[in-house]
Amino acid sequence: MKVFEIQGHSGTSRILVGEVLANLPQYLPATKVVVITDDTVKDLYGTAFSQYPAISIGQGEQYKTLDTLAQIYAELIRLGVDRSSFIVGIGGGIVCDITGFAAATFMRGIPYGFVATTLLAQVDASVGGKNGVNFGGYKNMVGVFSQPRFVICDPHLLVSLPEAEVLCGLAEVIKHGAIADKALFAYLQNKIQGALSLDPVVLEHLVHQSVVIKAGVVNADETEQGRRRILNFGHTIGHAVEKLSGMPHGQAVSIGMQVAARLSTTLAGLPLDQAEALGQLLRSYGLPTELGLSPEKVSDALRKDKKKSGRQIHYVLIEEIGKATVIDLDLVELDRLLAAL
Ligand SMILES: NC(=O)c1ccc[n+]([C@@H]2O[C@H](COP(=O)([O-])OP(=O)(O)OC[C@H]3O[C@@H](n4cnc5c(N)ncnc54)[C@H](O)[C@@H]3O)[C@@H](O)[C@H]2O)c1
Ligand SMILES: [Zn+2]
Repeated sequence: MKVFEIQGHSGTSRILVGEVLANLPQYLPATKVVVITDDTVKDLYGTAFSQYPAISIGQGEQYKTLDTLAQIYAELIRLGVDRSSFIVGIGGGIVCDITGFAAATFMRGIPYGFVATTLLAQVDASVGGKNGVNFGGYKNMVGVFSQPRFVICDPHLLVSLPEAEVLCGLAEVIKHGAIADKALFAYLQNKIQGALSLDPVVLEHLVHQSVVIKAGVVNADETEQGRRRILNFGHTIGHAVEKLSGMPHGQAVSIGMQVAARLSTTLAGLPLDQAEALGQLLRSYGLPTELGLSPEKVSDALRKDKKKSGRQIHYVLIEEIGKATVIDLDLVELDRLLAAL
């Protein structure tokens, strides 16, 4: 097991990569513990936490809402949870995001931890202290920055993941390689079969490297005033594509990364062969790279994105594989670049 620390304004978060779910009780205080999970995770792994009362939430983005949060608060009151209690979210990114927000706000904050059970949650969602719910048609519109006390990343939990969920996580791992770690990028090029067949040794390495990168970035800029923005590589266009096409997040981000890489060749000096290598890597994992939408529609969706500030957006480019930079880009200029692609 390897341990990484994130020093957040709300406290220190310990990310435990390679720890196993069976050891969860070791990290819990001897007070009242309540689990928040979903039915799939409870069916698969519930015996490992059956000694704690569990609140199960509905599955899918449509349940990541203030309504679900209200139901959780009601259950917490019914279970007699108070500020001496401890909450554990056991599940994917949705469970983690909603658990973090519920725990950070119930009675002005109750300590909490996560067991991340999807690849996406282990490499991204559970790490970094962003949490929240969707609102008014916008993803993650309401939430807070607050760090879990611990995050257990047990690679053995990933063997039961459907392939589509694995791909969502792999897209974020490829992102981490592209923005910050040339060696991780090369590892991904060499371990395609191992990663896709869920070899625990390969997955643990991918999670480990991803946590190193994400924890490092978050430690430098917890609330995303600067450096943390590099984690949004591929996400500007990705979110627009996700919204327009309804395709899964990882696939949409894959397209967004390929677009950003192409723009990086003109705007950030990324060598053409490296942009191609990124596209090739994404495709070898079965991820799409072609936009397949009219630039006008994408431009329109971009203007509705909550992350735009005025006419300028923060756009993430890569100067080379493993090195990201963020520029302020005028939306009109981005329209022109997209149309020219
Ligand atoms: N807070 C952040 O920084 C951050 C970062 C990235 C993504 N996110 C959020 O994460 C969410 C997506 O997370 P996700 O992809 O993990 O989705 P998810 O939580 O919906 O999990 C996907 C599906 O996999 C199932 N599942 C979970 N663990 C399993 C296992 N071990 N075996 C089999 N099935 C399992 C779940 O029940 C669910 O049906 C989005 O809402 C996104 O906004 C947050
Ligand atoms: Zn993402």
